Amino acid sequence: MRSTYFSAEEFLAQRRPIDPVRCFRQGAIERAVSWFQTNFSGQLIYAVKANMAPGVVHQVAQHGVKNFDVASLTEVDLIYHGVPNANLFYMNPVKSRAHIRSAYYDYGVRCFSIDHEDELEKILTVIEQAKDLTIFVRLHCDDSGSVLPLGRKYGAAGEEAVRLLQLVRQKAERLGVTFHVGSQALHPERYGEAIRYAGDLVRRAGVLAELLNVGGGFPIFYKDGDPLDLHPFVSNIENSLDALPMVQGGEIFAEPGRALVAEAESLIVRVDARRGNELFINDGGYGVLYDAANCDWVFPVRLVGHEDTKTNIQASDPAELVGFELWGPTCDAADHMKGPFYLPTSVQEGDYLEIYKTGAYGGVMASGFNGFGCYEEIDLQDDVMASNFVPLSSSAEIQSAEVIKLIS
Ligand SMILES: Cc1ncc(COP(=O)(O)O)c(C=O)c1O
Repeated sequence: MRSTYFSAEEFLAQRRPIDPVRCFRQGAIERAVSWFQTNFSGQLIYAVKANMAPGVVHQVAQHGVKNFDVASLTEVDLIYHGVPNANLFYMNPVKSRAHIRSAYYDYGVRCFSIDHEDELEKILTVIEQAKDLTIFVRLHCDDSGSVLPLGRKYGAAGEEAVRLLQLVRQKAERLGVTFHVGSQALHPERYGEAIRYAGDLVRRAGVLAELLNVGGGFPIFYKDGDPLDLHPFVSNIENSLDALPMVQGGEIFAEPGRALVAEAESLIVRVDARRGNELFINDGGYGVLYDAANCDWVFPVRLVGHEDTKTNIQASDPAELVGFELWGPTCDAADHMKGPFYLPTSVQEGDYLEIYKTGAYGGVMASGFNGFGCYEEIDLQDDVMASNFVPLSSSAEIQSAEVIKLIS
C-alpha cells in the first residue's frame, strides 16, 4: 500500500529517502486519457510497454480504455488478469510460435499484427487455420523527425505490402492496417502521409480494410519553451481518413503509450555530489532516467528539498537558474545525462530534485545494474510541471517561477 502526500515538499518534510522515489499521479492519467477521448474520434488502445505498473494499467482502464496493445506473453497475462474483459491487440509483428499458441488458446487473443508472409503462415499453422482472426498488416512509413524511429525494424512496403494485404484479406476474418510514425514523433504531418500511403497500398491490393490503427508516437515534450500542442497531430489523422479505402462502419484506433502515461510519474532524486556544474544523483540511465541518458532528453526538473529540513529551499528566480549535467549512480561513464537541466546555482550535496514526466519508458527500463534500481513508491496529488495537457499560461501560474527548458 503506497502512502499519499500532497507534494514532494510534503513528503520530504517527513522523510529523507536514500533511494530514488517514484511518485505516481492518478489525475495525470485521467487528464491524458480524457484529452484523447475528447479530441480523437477513434478508439484508444493503450500500449502497455510504456508503463506496466499495475496501478497505472488499472487507472488507464478505469478511465474507459478497454483496448490494450501487448507485445509479449507477459503483457498478455498482465492485462488478461488485471483488466476484466479487456480487448488484447498482440501488435508485435514478430512472435514465437509458443507465444502465439498460448495467446490464442490460453488467453483468447484474436488480434495480431504482422509485416511479413512468414509471420502470417506461422500464425495460421499454429492456430490450425482458425477463421476468427483480426490481422493488422504493419506498413512501413516515413518516421523521420521522430526521436525514436522504428521503421528500420518493422513495416511492409511496396509490392510486398500489396501482396500481404491480399493474402490477409483471404485468410483472416478482419483486415486491419497499422503503422508507427516513430516514438516522440515531432511532425504531425507524418500521420497524414502514412494514412495516404496505406490508402495507396490498399487500393493497389484491391481490398477494403475493416480497421485502421494509426499507432503511437504522440509526443510529450515542449520545444524551446513552447507547448507541443497535440491538436495538429489528431487533426492530421482525422483529415486524412478518407484516403484509406475501408468498409462502411470501419473502426479507427490510436495506440499511444508515452502520451498517456508520461505525466503519471515523477521521480525524486538525491544529489550525492556536486563537481562544478555537474551533479551526481542517485538514479540515471540504467534506471528510470533511461531516456535522459540515451536520448539526451531534458526532463523538467526543480529543486524540492534538502536532507537537512532546516535548509530553506525557495522558488528561484528563473534568471538565476544555471544549466547542469547529471551523472547517474553506476560506475559506467555512459550513465550521463547531458541536459542542460536548469537549477538554482545553490544546488549542493543532500538536495532533492523532482524530475517530471518519467512515467513512460522509465520504470520499465530500470535495471539492477551495479546494485542500484531500488525505488520507493508514493502517490502525489499536486500538479505536474509543464503538462502537455494544460495551456502553458495556466501551467506556468501553477508552477510559479520555475523555468522550463526542454529538448529542441
Ligand atoms: C506497436 C506499437 N504500438 C504503440 C507503441 C507506443 O508508442 P508511443 O509510446 O510512442 O506512443 C509502440 C512503441 O514502441 C509500438 O511498438
